[in-house]
Amino acid sequence: MNVVIIGAGAAGLGIGWQLARQGATVTVLERAQYAHGAIWAAAGMIAPVGEGMEGPLAQFGQQSSRLWPDFAATLEAQSGVSIGYARKGALLVAADGDEAAHLARRAEQEEDLQLLNASQAVEREPLLTPLIAGAAFAQDEAQVDTRALGHALARALIAAGGTIIQNEAVVRIEVSSGRAVAARTPFRLHEADAFVIAAGAWSSGIDGLPPGTVPQIKPIKGEAIAYAVPSDAATLREVVWGTAVYLVPRGRRVLAGASVADVGFDTSLTKTVRAFLEERATALIPALAQWRVDEHWAGLRPASPDGLPVLGRSQVDGLFVASGQYRNGILFTPVLADVMARTVMTGALPPEHAAFDIRRFA
Ligand code: GLY
Repeated sequence: MNVVIIGAGAAGLGIGWQLARQGATVTVLERAQYAHGAIWAAAGMIAPVGEGMEGPLAQFGQQSSRLWPDFAATLEAQSGVSIGYARKGALLVAADGDEAAHLARRAEQEEDLQLLNASQAVEREPLLTPLIAGAAFAQDEAQVDTRALGHALARALIAAGGTIIQNEAVVRIEVSSGRAVAARTPFRLHEADAFVIAAGAWSSGIDGLPPGTVPQIKPIKGEAIAYAVPSDAATLREVVWGTAVYLVPRGRRVLAGASVADVGFDTSLTKTVRAFLEERATALIPALAQWRVDEHWAGLRPASPDGLPVLGRSQVDGLFVASGQYRNGILFTPVLADVMARTVMTGALPPEHAAFDIRRFA
């Protein structure tokens, strides 16, 4: 089977890698550079609990979280790239009584959440301010270095026989008798047996398709910053979630994110958001006030109309979609790669994922 994938992010590369491993001939077309969109901007949390997921989204997130250790090991072995997957848990911090009560209610219902008082939380994370109303620890939460992940996925895809073509945007899908037959770029026509749109925030901007084939996928901007850990200082022990901020230790840096803004395809950096993130981060971890911010960046999350992933076979034969991951593209990478490779190979989204079926928008 000859498959063209549109978008070389976490989804496109992951799906392409799995399909190539299963014997498909895979070409990934990328409008810019591979693994430089949302995957590059993401903090890399594997965090169904931190993200407060519920219902089918929580099940999907937990399923993917369980797949992550094997996925990471196989990816590292096949790419030769270390991706820094680490399951060290996450601390969810309550700033006031309302947030503490909310955490307590969650801890009653969620097995994975262990309630802590302020001093227990500070014992677990010595850099944390003691001025908190409570906390909870989620032991199965993990993280991965997303910039290394992108590189690893690309290397693994190529090692499995796949091809990545950069700086070649798909502008149109050619449809003949209700079937997708080619992806048109400014340079040429790529014919294939199947096409997968995995283009993140750019997923619904491709011409040639009947109206409504791909629901509106909106870019939701996130700005984040990174602190350099001073050479004589210890870093955070685990991911820390506060009020409107999360902190992720990554090597000798601590990432702090992220804003959530519906401003189109604008990725400009703003002083206002940087100041907001610094204020929130230092309120949680006072030592950060003395640490240098060494990077400030922005990315675009792909959001569907109902906030859920958009997966499966579209109304156009031979055209598949994997988009709408919104805040969870990194968490979902293993499950999405597996589910979508199966979908392309069999022609149907497995029924247990019906909540995310693209046909709900038909
Ligand atoms: N998953 C974190 C974010 O989207 O900001």
